[in-house]
This record gives sequence, structure tokens and C-alpha cells, in this order.
Amino acid sequence: MLSILVGSLLASLAVAQQIGLFTPEVHPPITYQTCTTWKGCTTFQGSVTLDANYRWLHTARQTCNPDGFNTTICPNAVTCGETCALDGADYAGTYGVTTNGSAINLVFGNGGARVYLLDDTDNYVNFHVMNQEFTFDINVSNVPCAYNGALYFSEMPPDGGLSATNAAGAAYGTGYCDSQCPTSINFVNGTTNVDGTLGSCCNEMDLWEANSLSTQLTPHPCNVTGEFICTGAECSDVCDPSGCEFNPFRMGNESFYGPGDIVDTTKVMTVVTQFITDNNDASGTLSSIRRFYVQDGKIIPNSVVDLPGLPQVNSITSDYCTAKMTVLDDSTAFNVHGGLAQMGESLTRGAVLVFSLWDDLSGGMTWLDGLAGDASDPGTLRGPCTAADVVSDPAASVTFSNIRVGDINSTFSQVQWGQCGGTFYEGPSLCADPYECVYSNPYYSQCL
Ligand SMILES: *[C@@H]1O[C@H](CO)[C@@H](O)[C@H](O)[C@H]1NC(C)=O
Ligand SMILES: *[C@@H]1O[C@H](CO)[C@@H](O)[C@H](O)[C@H]1NC(C)=O
Ligand SMILES: *[C@@H]1O[C@H](CO)[C@@H](O)[C@H](O)[C@H]1NC(C)=O
Ligand SMILES: *[C@@H]1O[C@H](CO)[C@@H](O)[C@H](O)[C@H]1NC(C)=O
Ligand SMILES: *[C@@H]1O[C@H](CO)[C@@H](O)[C@H](O)[C@H]1NC(C)=O
Ligand SMILES: *[C@@H]1O[C@H](CO)[C@@H](O)[C@H](O)[C@H]1NC(C)=O
Ligand SMILES: *[C@@H]1O[C@H](CO)[C@@H](O)[C@H](O)[C@H]1NC(C)=O
Repeated sequence: MLSILVGSLLASLAVAQQIGLFTPEVHPPITYQTCTTWKGCTTFQGSVTLDANYRWLHTARQTCNPDGFNTTICPNAVTCGETCALDGADYAGTYGVTTNGSAINLVFGNGGARVYLLDDTDNYVNFHVMNQEFTFDINVSNVPCAYNGALYFSEMPPDGGLSATNAAGAAYGTGYCDSQCPTSINFVNGTTNVDGTLGSCCNEMDLWEANSLSTQLTPHPCNVTGEFICTGAECSDVCDPSGCEFNPFRMGNESFYGPGDIVDTTKVMTVVTQFITDNNDASGTLSSIRRFYVQDGKIIPNSVVDLPGLPQVNSITSDYCTAKMTVLDDSTAFNVHGGLAQMGESLTRGAVLVFSLWDDLSGGMTWLDGLAGDASDPGTLRGPCTAADVVSDPAASVTFSNIRVGDINSTFSQVQWGQCGGTFYEGPSLCADPYECVYSNPYYSQCL
């Protein structure tokens, strides 16, 4: 009996995640760069694709998921998979996603969006950032309290889990996973998740979770490799959903990041994140995650932690994470799941880039920008937002641009003798201290 059931399930699953034909899928194009210290930067043409869960699921005649799955059309996984297909997305009109050159703008509208960076073969770009740095520019000025314009890495399958049961793949934004092991995903590895029993877990590295009031940098390791499909208790066991975060406000500097602050969120800024290894080679163990900002032509080091009992650092190290768990009574899940070393192993395998804009108007996004706990305990205040600031704002928007990855120090400033300007030159125009960018001719400026 069981084998007959399994047999018929497998036969049906062969048509599980199909492509719909109502709206053609046209990925908004976007460029990104890779940089080396001595050769400057090379530009690649990519595009973005909307996550599968945000798309309409159609039958030949009607929508399968107007508000959760329609249980008449989708009584169970097999029937649903046979009947429903993922469709193309109206990026600008329905989801507020537009691109221009190297920039992507997300407008919140009815519910925000989550999109992934694709290469020119319709696979997700698989970034390798060990002993490298990742840099982007951001205009965060229009992201208010309780909203989060996020840029992060997820260890998703680069092909989106394309298989016999998933004909849609990365081109249609399938395969999402993160360290919260979400169980709300419609299709998990090609099978429908009508009753939400399946969670999709993987390592997650949050480069940027922020609004104009607060910002956070957070590794979230899991003790699984690639996408791991969980059920039941596993879903809260294999990953660290809290992470070891670095939030300047929470760590004692309330005037570092915000409107008019040292890092001024009313202006565009460049955000640099470096993944330093113990042997200064990509083969090493991740030993620290460093952050710099560049604004108005000035390099601004990250704020220094200033809380009693915590080491005076301005980067994420194992000592910082371990001390923070004890002193601030944070979850120990980070160390339980292998800490920075485990995060580094995931980044060595590769990571997919996720852009998203989302909100939490139910209680506010207090873990990022408000009071998350008892006000008298240290470290519970994560930002200046209060309940009164939690207001719906469909016009909220964020722009990310100039995505670059490369050798340490190569994406935002140049070394002595390095090129810093000229026609056709595409690398950074800032020179590392104490050098200045000196004009030689229309084709060449140099850091001297
Ligand atoms: C669900 O599908 C049935 C059958 O096609 C239809 O009659 C019903 O209106 C649908 N429900 C919703 C909420 O769309
Ligand atoms: C795209 O960006 C260019 C400069 O980077 C600008 O001149 C142009 O107006 C922008 N286009 C749109 C539609 O915003
Ligand atoms: C930043 O975004 C705001 C709000 O969308 C916009 O008004 C402003 O012009 C943008 N700044 C730049 C430099 O593009
Ligand atoms: C997805 O399903 C395929 C079989 O269709 C299997 O080989 C693969 O391991 C599954 N992926 C995950 C992440 O479980
Ligand atoms: C992963 O961590 C959990 C603790 O949260 C533990 O129960 C489990 O055995 C670990 N799994 C592996 C494969 O290490
Ligand atoms: C906040 O950071 C800035 C820049 O690093 C520093 O000058 C200032 O003293 C810091 N303030 C506090 C209260 O730590
Ligand atoms: C990067 O630049 C910083 C100073 O801005 C310097 O301390 C560091 O050694 C440089 N690292 C490399 C690998 O060039």
C-alpha cells in the first residue's frame, strides 16, 4: 500500500512546479562588478528575479493563492502541483521593483518584494566572499521605523533547485531558504507546501538590515549544508535565527548612524563589508567581519563597541559574540551552530544575493530599531523608534546600487600608484589614506 502511494506521488510530482503562460517573465537588468587590487573592476550584466512566493499561481482559469492556497483547487500537494503554475511578474506595476544601470529601487506599495541577483545564464550569482569584500551604495533615507530595506546572502541552490519536479528554477525565484527556516513557502523543492509542514533552512549572512534610524550586520550560521528541508522540531534546531549582530546603537553609540549623524542616513552612502580569514587567504577560517562606510569622499570606520564587559572592537569576532551572549544575555545559538567558523564554511561554498523591503507593523521591528526587552537591562534598546513611530507607509523605498565584490580594499579605494580615474576606468575613485587622486591625462588619474 505504502509503495503504491509513494509511486503515485512520485509520478505526480514530475509536474509539480510549472511555469505559467499569462504574464511573460522579463527580468529587470542590473549590472554588478568584480574588482582586484591591481586590475581595477570588471562590469557584468545580470538581472533580478522576484521570489516565487510573491508571484501569482494560476490554473488555466483562476488564481490558486489569492489569500493563502484555495483549498478547493489545492486540497493537497499533488493536486495543487498538477493544477497550478508560477507566472511572470509585473515588476514595476505590482511589486514596485525597477532597475537602472547598476541600481535597483524597491518601493513598498502593497507589500514590498524580495528579489535575487541572476547571472546571464538565469542562475543565481554565487558569490564567494572569503578574504574578499562586498560593497554597495545605498539610499536609505526613505525607509522609516518598522521597515527594513535588507541586502543579504543566503546559501540557496544557485539553480533555484531546478529538477524533474521544478521546471521553474532560479529564473522564477524558487529555492529560497534562510536561518529562520520559513514554513510559509508555497513550493519547497518542487513539492507544494499547502499545510506548511516543510521549512526551508540555510546559512544566512545579513550584510544589511536597516532603516534610516538603525542598522545591523549579522551572521546566522546553521549546522546544515546548502538548502535543508526541515519538519517539526528540526525547524527550530538546525539554524541560529537570532545571529550575532552588530548594531552601533545597541552597542552604545546612539549618534553614529541616523539622520544627520556621523553616518548620515539622509545622504547616499557606500557600505563595505570585509570577510577576514585567519590566514589572509580564501582557504582560511573566517575570523572577523569588518565594516566601513564611505560618505562624501571620507572613509568612516565602524563605531567602537562601548558596553561594560564587552571587548572594545568595531568588527564581529568570536570573542565579541561569546562575550555578548554572556554580558547581554543573548541566545547562545550562534556558538551552538558553529559560530563564525561555520558561517565561513557556508560562505566558502557560495552565497546568493537577496534584496528585500519588508515591514512589521504588528509590533514594530523592535529587534532592529526599538526597545526589545526590559528597558533597565543593557543592550535592549536597539534604536530610537517607539510604538508611535510604527505607521504604515506604502511610499517607503530603498535604492541599492554599485554592487561590487573583490580583493580587500579594492572596491572602495585604491592603493598607492593605483588608478583612480580616467575615461573607460570603472574602479574606485577614492585613494587610501594618505594618498590623493592625481590627474595625469584624460585617460589616467593615479593615487600618489
Ligand atoms: C476557490 O476555487 C473555487 C473552485 O474553482 C472557487 O469557486 C472559489 O471562488 C475559489 N475561492 C477563492 C477565495 O478564490
Ligand atoms: C538612470 O540613471 C541615469 C544616470 O545614472 C539617469 O541619467 C537617468 O535619468 C536614470 N533613468 C531613470 C529612468 O531614472
Ligand atoms: C534618495 O532617496 C530619496 C527618497 O526616495 C530621494 O528623494 C533622493 O533624491 C535620493 N537621493 C539621491 C542622491 O538619489
Ligand atoms: C530535492 O529533491 C530532489 C529529488 O527530486 C533531491 O535529489 C534533492 O536532494 C532534494 N533537495 C533537498 C534540498 O532536499
Ligand atoms: C545542530 O544543532 C542542534 C542544536 O540546535 C543539534 O541538536 C543538532 O544535533 C546539530 N546537528 C548537527 C548535524 O550537528
Ligand atoms: C560614536 O562614534 C564616533 C565615531 O566613531 C565617535 O567619535 C563618538 O565618540 C562615538 N560616541 C559614543 C557615545 O561612543
Ligand atoms: C586595507 O586597508 C587598511 C587601511 O585602510 C589596512 O589597514 C589594511 O592592511 C588593508 N588590507 C589589505 C589586505 O590591503
